[in-house]
Order: sequence, then structure tokens, then C-alpha cells
Amino acid sequence: MRLQRDFRDAHIQHELRTHGRKNGFVTKGQQARLAHWLPKIGLPKASCLETADEPWVLEIGFGNGDFLVHMACSHPDWHLLGVEIYLPGVAKAVSRLEEAEVINRCRISQLPAQFVLEHQIAANTLAGIVINHPDPWPKSRHHKRRLIQPDFARLLASRLAIGGFLHLASDKPDLAEWMRDILDQTEGLTNEGDADGFVARCDDRPLTKFEQRGHREGRKSQFLHYRRSADT
Ligand SMILES: C[S@@+](CC[C@H](N)C(=O)[O-])C[C@H]1O[C@@H](n2cnc3c(N)ncnc32)[C@H](O)[C@@H]1O
Repeated sequence: MRLQRDFRDAHIQHELRTHGRKNGFVTKGQQARLAHWLPKIGLPKASCLETADEPWVLEIGFGNGDFLVHMACSHPDWHLLGVEIYLPGVAKAVSRLEEAEVINRCRISQLPAQFVLEHQIAANTLAGIVINHPDPWPKSRHHKRRLIQPDFARLLASRLAIGGFLHLASDKPDLAEWMRDILDQTEGLTNEGDADGFVARCDDRPLTKFEQRGHREGRKSQFLHYRRSADT
């Protein structure tokens, strides 16, 4: 089964430039699930997220959906928007959200987070944003590809409601410090961490795929918590 062209145009990212893999193997069953669910819970490129009075939490780069499913199950009052450019990850997460029977409180987008934040989410609306283990781009000539950059940090801050949270994790110390240094300088964000800027790991966190990978390779993740403190 192939996804129809107009369906792809509305829901699937293929022309907006991003760094990182977008395509990969998607089984026929997953394609059928995407074709069933994305018209219902997708966020087509031309539309804006309607947040009304409900708390909406955004996860950027949800991978295969480990944390998205966890948040949906452990916070029945939250509505969740998951953004992930890698199509097989989107397909896996949709299946898992459906199995956990929480999919009706979720919206999913395969567009890059930069586009979604700038064009599809109004200022001062989100209750929270989560970014777990963003791509590290370790070579210094690739640092400009890292997700957290000063402009992107300002965009993140501007989309949070006052009092909203921004939580990040990384198993790469260099990237964790890079994110902390940029976010600490971002107007409207207050670091809630200890003297070094980091917080302890919450006991109820699930191990995401990339946190597990870090453990296998002998690394421990570091965690950052910010709160939107004032108008940006
Ligand atoms: C290292 S993986 C981490 C996955 C997951 N959060 C975890 O902790 O296991 C980073 C994810 O971010 C996604 N990603 C990279 N750039 C993105 C962007 N601009 N917008 C949305 N997702 C992005 C990648 O496709 C990838 O799945």
C-alpha cells in the first residue's frame, strides 16, 4: 500500500530542509495505521494547534514514542503534540499510542520542530515542552546543526505559557552543557537546577531508546529543567 500524494503533501515532511534521517522502512501495517490515524490526529501543514483551555505538552524528537506514551498514560489531563521527522518513528509511536488507548489525546506531526513552533503554535500557549536526547552532532563543524541554538531557544520560550516547563535530557556531556549555556542565556527561561544547572533524574522516568543506548556505552544522562518566567 502506498500513501496517496495529497495525503503525503498534507502530513508527511519531504521538502522542508532538516538535518537527520527522515525516511526508512515502514511496514504495510504501519502505513495502513498512518493512513488511518494521521487524518484524525495529524497536524496538517496549513493548520494551527488549537489549545483552548486544555494543557498541551509538546515533545520534540520523540523517536519511537517511549516518552510520549509514558506522558500520555501518566498524565490523563494532558493533551500531547509529538513532533518527529523520522517516519518509521512516527509509525511506531502511532501504533503504541493506539495500543495504550491514549491516541485520542495526542496530535502527531512529521514536520521539523522549527516549522511547527514558528507556524503552527501560538505564543504563550504550551504547558510544557520536552526534548530528550536531541541529536548530538559531535563534530564542531556540525554544531550549527544542533537543535538548541539561540534563535530556537527564544522560539521555545515564546511558545510556553507563563509558568510552563521546558525539560531536556542528554547523555552527551558536551551537548548537555551546550544546551544549558544557551538556555541559561535565554530571556524568559529560569533554570531550576542545582549549582551546576542540572537536576537529578526523576525516578518515574522511562528509559528512552537513547538513554538506554547511553547506559550500554557507559554514559549517564543529564537533565535540565526550565520554567517560563516572564514575557519574552
Ligand atoms: C537521538 S534521537 C532521540 C530519540 C528519543 N527522544 C530518545 O530519547 O530516545 C533524536 C530524534 O530527534 C529527531 N529530530 C531531529 N531533528 C528534528 C527536528 N528538527 N524536528 C523534530 N524531530 C527531530 C530525530 O529524527 C531523532 O528521532
